[in-house]
Amino acid sequence: MSKHILAIDQGTTSTRAIIFGADMQIVSVGQKEFTQHFPASGWVEHDPEEIWHTVLWAVKEALKGANLEAADIGAAGITNQRETVVIWDRATGKPVHNAIVWQDRRTAVMCRKLKAAGVESKFSKKTGLLLDPYFSGTKIAWLLDKVPGLRKRAERGELAAGTIDTFLIWRLTGGQAHATDATNASRTLIYNIAENAWDNELLDILRIPRSLLPRVEDCAAEFGSIDKALFGAEIPILGVAGDQQAATIGQACFEPGMIKSTYGTGCFAVLNTGTEMVRSKNKLLTTIAYRLNGETTYALEGSIFIAGAAVQWLRDGAKMISKAADAGDLAAQADSTQTIYFVPAFVGLGAPHWDADARGAIFGLTRNSGPAEFARATLESVAFQTRDLLDAMHKDWKAGDTKTVLRVDGGMVASDWTMQRLADILDAPVDRPRILETTALGAAWLAGSKAGFWPGKDGFAQKWALENRFQPTMTQSDRRKAIAGWRDAVRRTLT
Ligand code: G3P
Repeated sequence: MSKHILAIDQGTTSTRAIIFGADMQIVSVGQKEFTQHFPASGWVEHDPEEIWHTVLWAVKEALKGANLEAADIGAAGITNQRETVVIWDRATGKPVHNAIVWQDRRTAVMCRKLKAAGVESKFSKKTGLLLDPYFSGTKIAWLLDKVPGLRKRAERGELAAGTIDTFLIWRLTGGQAHATDATNASRTLIYNIAENAWDNELLDILRIPRSLLPRVEDCAAEFGSIDKALFGAEIPILGVAGDQQAATIGQACFEPGMIKSTYGTGCFAVLNTGTEMVRSKNKLLTTIAYRLNGETTYALEGSIFIAGAAVQWLRDGAKMISKAADAGDLAAQADSTQTIYFVPAFVGLGAPHWDADARGAIFGLTRNSGPAEFARATLESVAFQTRDLLDAMHKDWKAGDTKTVLRVDGGMVASDWTMQRLADILDAPVDRPRILETTALGAAWLAGSKAGFWPGKDGFAQKWALENRFQPTMTQSDRRKAIAGWRDAVRRTLT
């Protein structure tokens, strides 16, 4: 009997449950958005109970849509927004505070103090990351410092902590498993990616008790079983990866030199560097792409905080479009004689600048500038930011081919105009695959291959299918001019 695979994709703004058939095609989807809490400027929180309810709802909805019972599901994979942390009570499973989300900047001062104390190189060397509020470690430290009584309870061993995957595994297994995978661990700022272990020295610096932390597994492993009481039958959880790493897997970027870029709220470009742990000299992150059968594959990652969120701003903030999908058509109508640059630094700038205090800016407006020119500048900003990441990657990784093909996914890639512009600015082909749900597919493949229902790496990679390749058509001199203008706009935006 062929079994279906369930992927739970717990993202920043919504939770999706996707059921795949034995042929690796999508059978049904359940999706639910949840509330974003902004308790102070620069702070972003999620209610873990609400997230949990969206997971239950989405899985039930997907089962219903597929007309299946839980007993028809052979295995489950989990993929998740990374870095976001939850601390909960081991006895009751109740969170002690809202989740602090990856976008949250509340630990900026703590990061500055740690930098001033001269420990950044220690963190970078061991974790491949930088001292930025983006990562989980300082968020856990903040909770222990600021929530009354929490440190004492942590020291008594009463609490458990984890990224969202870990919280969901705990809940799904009825508190039986406290586990994460190597990719999620690699985003915490307390995980040594060379030794593949929590790092005592870094835990000491951040004053985080080790008893809070989960065990760390390969991405395809036995994480525990979903409690029968939840959906009517036990389902083994056999795959876990952070969403950007799951997309890397779903895009079958298994060979060193392959790059994927996902355009969701933000944009995350991941370059597979194989077993080599490349140290960035250009402020990219060194991170774990995946760990399979005990072997770690590393990656260089460029993280941009605002991509699709800039289009959302065009819609909800500037009210220049009524739906996100209209941005491409509007941009195509822009006056080609106007040169406008938009630097969408709404929450600071991520890689390769890491300027937490920068804010959005637009340059080159004339009396003729209107919605079409804004739309073009917004979509182009995503292409220019990707170019900055790829340039940094090429500088960092000499073994890399300079004529990279970029595999893209995420909501924004549906726009042909944006993808053509991306290819033009990158001066490299952009490949859009047939299945755009690469994040869920990656998690499903981890679980499906571990269960023995789906093919291994090579067989899976062969199934990757191209929908459209966008080739650069811009002249070299136009490209050079456009990039120089962008760089100048960024320079003027940095603090
Ligand atoms: O590092 C943050 C990233 O994992 C969030 O991804 O798709 O939930 O916005 P997404």
